[in-house]
Amino acid sequence: MKKKLLAAIFASLLVLGACGGGDKTKDEGATTGGETASVDAEKIVNNKCIACHGNNLEGGSAPGLTDVGSKLSESEIHDIIINGQGGMPGGLIKGEEADAVAKWLAEKK
Ligand code: HEC
Repeated sequence: MKKKLLAAIFASLLVLGACGGGDKTKDEGATTGGETASVDAEKIVNNKCIACHGNNLEGGSAPGLTDVGSKLSESEIHDIIINGQGGMPGGLIKGEEADAVAKWLAEKK
């Protein structure tokens, strides 16, 4: 993911250098999803979690997560992501992805 991003930035730099046009900066903006973290938590959730938790995390076959931060702490959410709980499979995401998603969900109150 990081590699892809670097490649995209590098590619757009090349294009800029080659044409000298300023209109390509738009492309670069589209590829930089997460501003603070190196992983885009929202994108990960959209890929891995909405099948059960609903398109807008409003809930589906699994409970809604729109205000999960008022119920569970970041570390509790992290724990559920890693280990699973009930019908929730663990290990869907790991490492810094799990860290970023737990942080992102903990802010949903
Ligand atoms: C296969 C379906 C499925 C997927 C995919 C899934 N979940 Fe879940 N999740 C569940 C179910 C079912 C529960 C309820 C578990 C229980 O307590 O019995 C749950 C519960 C949770 C809870 C606790 C909610 C609460 O109110 O207690 C969190 C947090 C959570 N999931 C996060 C995630 C995240 C983040 C992802 C994506 C990485 C994800 N889930 C993907 C099925 C899923």
